[in-house]
Amino acid sequence: MSEELLVGIIRESSGALSDAWAARDAGAAEGVRIRYLGRKGGELNEVMRGLKDLSADEKRIVGPLANSVRVYIEASVSAIKEDDREKIIEAHRALGERLRGREGGGALSEVIGQRENEILGAGDVADASRSRLDLTIPGRAPHIGHEHPLVQTMEDLIEVLTRLGYSVAEGPEAELDYYNFEALNIPKDHPARDMQDTFYLTGDALLRTHTSPVQIRVMESQAPPVKVIAPGKVFRCDADVTHSPMFHQIEGLYVDEGVTFADLKGTLEAFVREIFGPEYRVRLRPSFFPFTEPSVEVDIASDYVAGGEWMEVLGAGMVDPAVFEAVGYDPERWTGFAWGLGVERITMLRYGISDIRLFFENDLRMLRQF
Ligand code: FA5
Repeated sequence: MSEELLVGIIRESSGALSDAWAARDAGAAEGVRIRYLGRKGGELNEVMRGLKDLSADEKRIVGPLANSVRVYIEASVSAIKEDDREKIIEAHRALGERLRGREGGGALSEVIGQRENEILGAGDVADASRSRLDLTIPGRAPHIGHEHPLVQTMEDLIEVLTRLGYSVAEGPEAELDYYNFEALNIPKDHPARDMQDTFYLTGDALLRTHTSPVQIRVMESQAPPVKVIAPGKVFRCDADVTHSPMFHQIEGLYVDEGVTFADLKGTLEAFVREIFGPEYRVRLRPSFFPFTEPSVEVDIASDYVAGGEWMEVLGAGMVDPAVFEAVGYDPERWTGFAWGLGVERITMLRYGISDIRLFFENDLRMLRQF
């Protein structure tokens, strides 16, 4: 009976189509077309030709079924030739739809359902071995952000200093004139105020020009001994390749009985070697800060960098007795040292960066190098 024949045809043709699809072989697909739809000897055509011998009732059932199978084979063959997986799955689904609920379509529909699953599975395997998809090419890694080089340096510095026994203190960026200048032995008309071009907020309040005011706040709030560092942002009306209007400093303060200049030198040397490496030499050069006496500027050099030239990295000194008096410490009993270093300068030396403005442009081509 023609309906059984159709089930056989669809079973075989859809099996052959699955194979052709898995192999992605246009030639095999064409072979399937010729075998079932070929003008001469095509199996489905034989069924069509036999329709004329059927009764009117049989014709009504088998005719549309055979036509659906033809549409399906044609669509699948062209999908395989075009290498379009979606299309072949669509062809299966469309045939399933057409057969469902149609008299005599149940058995066909079942075969088609099975084939659809096969094709979905075969598609996955075939996708993996497809010649135009090279699975050995390394993927494109998503870009993952990281800390800014300044933050990295800052954290490295803090790490080394906390290992040397310092704890971290903080103070406000908008500061009172008293803490930023006066208590640090820089009175209103003192020429040392010119060393730091200040952004004033009001007559009395300003953006701190250095982290030294944190020294005062810490000493006001706790009795000696004191061993703190104060990292943070500072602001000066200053801008060129080595000066930025906002930059970072780390202040250090150590106060105890019997602290000497030799302790300062030893601390700075240990610290510089930790950060820059043991090949660095440290040189202290006499300098002046109103809040330290004596004061030094610290230069470092290495035979391997910049032809061994000295480079300034920080200011330091023994805490001036006038500062101890301002915070109520007895200068006869306590001595101490302090330093303030520029984080940008240290980062520039560390990575050989010559323009400070590169840190603040947020150009990813620059930042991704760290
Ligand atoms: C001071 O700010 C003192 N408070 C440091 C100090 C603390 C001395 C404690 C003694 C005791 P000075 O103005 O030199 O000092 O600045 C310290 C460092 O900040 C400099 O060595 C430099 O590395 C950095 N620096 C100064 N101005 C700028 C700027 N505009 N941009 C970037 N870095 C700067």
